[in-house]
Amino acid sequence: MNSTHILGIETSCDETAAAVYHQEKGLLSNCIFSQAVTHQYAGGVIPEVASREQLEKIAPIIASALQQAHSTLADIDVIAVTNKPGLPGSLLVGLCFAKALAFAAQKAIIGINHLEGHTFSPFLEYNVPFPHVCITASGGHTSLNLVRGFGDYVTLADTRDDAAGEAFDKIAKLMQLPYPGGPVLEKLAAENSFADTRHYPRGKRSDTLDFSFSGLKTAVLYDLVRQNAYSLEQKEFLKPNDHALIREVAASLHVCIADIFIDKLERALAMHPEVQAITFVGGVACNKYIAHRLHIFAQSRKLQFYKPSTQFCTDNAAMIAFVGSYKAKHHEFSTLDLDIFQ
Ligand code: KG4
Ligand code: ZN
Repeated sequence: MNSTHILGIETSCDETAAAVYHQEKGLLSNCIFSQAVTHQYAGGVIPEVASREQLEKIAPIIASALQQAHSTLADIDVIAVTNKPGLPGSLLVGLCFAKALAFAAQKAIIGINHLEGHTFSPFLEYNVPFPHVCITASGGHTSLNLVRGFGDYVTLADTRDDAAGEAFDKIAKLMQLPYPGGPVLEKLAAENSFADTRHYPRGKRSDTLDFSFSGLKTAVLYDLVRQNAYSLEQKEFLKPNDHALIREVAASLHVCIADIFIDKLERALAMHPEVQAITFVGGVACNKYIAHRLHIFAQSRKLQFYKPSTQFCTDNAAMIAFVGSYKAKHHEFSTLDLDIFQ
């Protein structure tokens, strides 16, 4: 089967995205609708609202992706769709739409792991050498993977509780800042020159490489309580106008998370001296301060460093179409009984 045109569909959380990838010409289109404004004041994604909005946006986004690629459904050979992990309601919208298209138009279908999409997102722009260590940091996941080739990777560390992006989002919510917390806190931290005045715990554990960020959220909470800035009884931030305090928290949080990432990378590299490069992917990779710290660290180890551009860091369908293209080349097709997995 000749599978040159891949339509990628991504609906795992609060972004509705579609893209067309061509095996020789590369990315032909990349369309996305983000629900960030919808969830801004709730302080996080409301699953029921997210899936309803996915349902409204899925058809127009796919139409836009085809149009931007100067293609029609007839030109598409394979539909690659995210089927795990994510919010069940949101995943189902993308998967059901993809299956209906595949059935009606007689196209091949491939289920894609969203995290595999992030892992290989740097390849949309760079030829990253193998083996490399990939640090994925998003709203739902934080992990370290040893990537030995396409489809050949080993998870070295995972999230025990909250992900790094979730820590940004929850701490922003604690201080009555809008969702998503990462970009808002980055701007505030820059205004405080990324100074580590509050010294939050790094939670170093020698027995595991796994990440844990729920303790960091608790440390920030009790730091605010100690400063009479948060009431545990009323569950309320009491100093929303104390910009100096908010900037200090934001800056110290950045230094803490960057230090945690570098500590884990150092330990992963000690176990895998064969590594050639470090990649940084997922929504948190948009963060210029953390990316800069990781870049400097990679240089100190004489390793190359790759981070996708912003549009490919946050959730997108280009990365899903790209992995779909790889899987199509290797005839790793799914069937129409494909299901979602949380
Ligand atoms: O990869 P992504 O778009 O969605 C998931 O798969 O979760 O990541 C979203 C996460 C959110 O938690 C958001 O706060 C975080 O990425 N994020 C950032 C920045 N931009 C987005 N975190 C830190 N700094 C940023 N500039
Ligand atoms: Zn993601």
